[in-house]
Amino acid sequence: MSKAIVIFGSTMGNTETLAGSVVEGLEEGGKEVTLKNVTETKIKEVADYDLVVMGCSTWGLGELQDDFISFYDAMSKDFLDGKKAAVFGPGDSGMYPDNFCDAVTIIEEKLEECGAKIVEDCLKVDGDVDDALDETKAWAVSVAKNA
Ligand SMILES: Cc1cc2nc3c(=O)[nH]c(=O)nc-3n(C[C@H](O)[C@H](O)[C@H](O)COP(=O)(O)O)c2cc1C
Repeated sequence: MSKAIVIFGSTMGNTETLAGSVVEGLEEGGKEVTLKNVTETKIKEVADYDLVVMGCSTWGLGELQDDFISFYDAMSKDFLDGKKAAVFGPGDSGMYPDNFCDAVTIIEEKLEECGAKIVEDCLKVDGDVDDALDETKAWAVSVAKNA
């Protein structure tokens, strides 16, 4: 079975909640999945996985969630070239219309720069994550099928 890692950064727990549904969807799609908080993850760990899924909320005005910043800085071709990848995250388009889920876009662009292959369009969840768990799981099933 091919292996996937889901790495999330979450301040209030919303991205973590979504990550739970991502794990369910990836498993339904046939992956063996490891779930990790970015605070406990070193970039070199992705070497053990075929598929890397990253989840990150957006803070400030279009900035990465705090815990994700040093991990983002460590992302490079050395670790990510040729990996399959996908990105998800929550945001709030009502409060932050000009920066809605920017962190998701920022991470996706970095993955591409590092030579990763994005297997599915990113998932940007607007507002209450509890309303989006089914959608998130379905997205992850699709990620798994494309990976
Ligand atoms: C101070 C603050 C700044 C935020 N900035 C943005 C933003 O720029 N873009 C956006 O889409 N959402 C923004 N949000 C909304 C958060 O991304 C959203 O609440 C998210 O669900 C938090 O996820 P987390 O609990 O996983 O950190 C902001 C929220 C706060 C409280």
